[in-house]
Amino acid sequence: MLITRKAEFSASHICRDPRLSDAENRALYGAAANPHGHGHNYVLEVTVAGTPDPVTGMVLDLKALKDTLNREVVDIYDHRFLNREVAPFDHVIPTPENIAIDIWNRLQPHLSGPRGRLHGVRVYETPDLYVDYFGDDA
Ligand code: NI
Repeated sequence: MLITRKAEFSASHICRDPRLSDAENRALYGAAANPHGHGHNYVLEVTVAGTPDPVTGMVLDLKALKDTLNREVVDIYDHRFLNREVAPFDHVIPTPENIAIDIWNRLQPHLSGPRGRLHGVRVYETPDLYVDYFGDDA
């Protein structure tokens, strides 16, 4: 069974590769390459897989899941300039793809129990664009 919790955070970013020229960055990343940066209201959906406990009827403690999302992701990302304030984005370009990978890496150690293991991370950068990440094996 899959269970998903949603969270939101607002953050700014710049998508540009310092090894490329301004023109090359604009060609690759469009307006997102603007060195002043810009913000998004990101929506995060974290999906956990597991079997409901026969006694509690729950896959995992949903309050604990919420606390983990807040502590490991939202508190770190919210109202930050990702390139300047959140590792690894000082050297990894904060595309939605890389943000999903980073969030997976932050959550995975905390969601690996026999009941409730991390299944997928979905990051919406805008209401009409999202990425899904299911770990290295997917
Ligand atoms: Ni952007």
